[in-house]
Amino acid sequence: MARDKIALIGSGQIGGTLAHLVGLKELGDVVLFDIAEGVPQGKALDIAESSPVDGFDSKLTGANSYEAIEGARVVIVTAGVPRKPGMSRDDLLSINLKVMEQVGAGIKKYAPDAFVICITNPLDAMVWALQKASGLPAKKVVGMAGVLDSARFRYFLADEFNVSVEDVTAFVLGGHGDTMVPLVKYSTVAGIPLPDLVKMGWTSQARLDEIVDRTRNGGAEIVNLLKTGSAFYAPASSAIAMAESYLKDKKRVVPVAAHLNGEYGVKDMYVGVPVVIGDKGVERIVEIELAGKDKEAFDRSVAAVQGLVEACKKIAPDLL
Ligand code: APR
Repeated sequence: MARDKIALIGSGQIGGTLAHLVGLKELGDVVLFDIAEGVPQGKALDIAESSPVDGFDSKLTGANSYEAIEGARVVIVTAGVPRKPGMSRDDLLSINLKVMEQVGAGIKKYAPDAFVICITNPLDAMVWALQKASGLPAKKVVGMAGVLDSARFRYFLADEFNVSVEDVTAFVLGGHGDTMVPLVKYSTVAGIPLPDLVKMGWTSQARLDEIVDRTRNGGAEIVNLLKTGSAFYAPASSAIAMAESYLKDKKRVVPVAAHLNGEYGVKDMYVGVPVVIGDKGVERIVEIELAGKDKEAFDRSVAAVQGLVEACKKIAPDLL
């Protein structure tokens, strides 16, 4: 059986880490793509040269033209620019929106059967634009945010309770970052919901609130430490988990930015919800009933994403 081909559009910090993980996990052959000449080629060669040491067989190549992604089973998109000082959210939106239009056209032409994972920020709007620009079925185009947000939440909880990260599960909904909605009653340690752990005296409600807050600002915490860039290890691992579920038809239940068409009362928008990922892409959207302040927080999150999508529609009316 031929190895699967995985195309990485954008060969920056996250793109390079993705390529390394694909190799280490032997998920397939890798094509790194970037507009910067030499960067994808250099990273591909560097990682390929590590393969004899780590003992993996994967063909890694770098490219500056879209032809190279032909036939990819998975495409992971990190192309774009980060927000720089003095740049407004709308400036960032219009630059990365143009990038999504180019990337979408490349995918449409050379990898129309791929499962596409978008990581470029502002995530929920960029994945929406990428789906429109590529014309791929909505169930084959998703955004990576929830796996990362819930991984941060799980890590902080495991640290708080001094237990294995493997035994902590977390449930998050909504947009990426500040408007994320963690559902503590569905988050557990070995199946015990967090509110019960508060009752059992494992932690206090105040500590739990602090952890939720830290999770929401998890991206900013890393940016403040790194100063010259944003997180890349955990975002790359999160996207790889999603790709693996597709490639191996694992049918994992994970939170992703998925296209909603009536679910949760949302129409033609990408919002973070739990889904089942298998070899058909998004095979099922898990729709739970929301009430009270969870519903309010979710609606606020949806409104924030809606604002970004409206801004995209104004900048690029042809996308619709
Ligand atoms: N086509 C292809 N690649 C592009 C394009 C384009 N039109 N425009 C920029 N790029 C490339 C850049 O040359 C760079 O190598 O995208 C890459 C982005 O890499 P980094 O700047 O290192 O960013 P990274 O940390 O990998 O994050 C990528 O993910 O989490 C988000 O906010 C983050 O939007 C950002 C994205």
